[in-house]
Amino acid sequence: APPGTKATLRHLRAKYEAGLPLAIVTAYDYPSAQLAERAGVDVVLVGDSVGMVVLGYDSTTPVTMDEMIHHTKAARRGAPHSLLVADLPFGSYLHAHDCVHNGARLLKEGGADAVKLEGGRRVLAQVRALVDAGIAVMGHVGLTPQTHASLGGYTVQGKTTVAARELLADARALEAAGCFSIVLEMVPHKLAALVTAQLRVPTIGIGAGVSTSGQVQVMHDLLGLYDKFQPKFAARYAAVGAISGRALAEYVADVAARRFPGAQHSFAMPDAELHALED
Ligand code: KIV
Ligand code: NA
Repeated sequence: APPGTKATLRHLRAKYEAGLPLAIVTAYDYPSAQLAERAGVDVVLVGDSVGMVVLGYDSTTPVTMDEMIHHTKAARRGAPHSLLVADLPFGSYLHAHDCVHNGARLLKEGGADAVKLEGGRRVLAQVRALVDAGIAVMGHVGLTPQTHASLGGYTVQGKTTVAARELLADARALEAAGCFSIVLEMVPHKLAALVTAQLRVPTIGIGAGVSTSGQVQVMHDLLGLYDKFQPKFAARYAAVGAISGRALAEYVADVAARRFPGAQHSFAMPDAELHALED
């Protein structure tokens, strides 16, 4: 979208059709969304990864609708012109009915433009219900972190012929149900290329190689703000956590040594007023 105008699904579609790679990053609050928008990303994703990198949960499973709305609202304030996609958290789309209710909440209360949910054919009724309700949906197949326990951990998906066929069928079904884009997470790069070639909607890879229509990364991984768990596919472009840690330690040391605050941080009052006070 031209600077200062609202990005839409139409802009995303045009870029995809022009064969240009899409860059997506997560953001969960005002400053991070502002950074993402200013960097020129194609989509800002309020991922339920917020549960791990911001809220300190061990997985994304505990994330609630209220938490997603809270963070989506903040991200929207920071990225008013971006295409903003918000994750439906685990348990919020078990049935088509609660799915539409919760999807609508992410749009009405959170200010999102679209929602994302995890799963293939098992969530087809939910995807159809959302699309019928006028809610744009991004799919997510391959490794689906919300159901990591039932998948047996955070492992590459679709490595066998049988599993790859299932994944391809899931992606096709999601496209047919009306998803405008599909995330492929932790999928062998050649399978991701095959899926991408067979679909007519953009695939967004994370740990899926270079042939997907776009890439998505968790901002805290890109910036080096989360080191509890570092997947192989996480790209680190900066060490913001280390820089922040040094800055805070310096502040603490300066206060301890009375080097902070300095004169430039302090306020004066007229001498006459002070003398009168002391009298
Ligand atoms: O929650 C998230 O950050 C995501 C992306 C990694 C795709 O779902
Ligand atoms: Na997610």
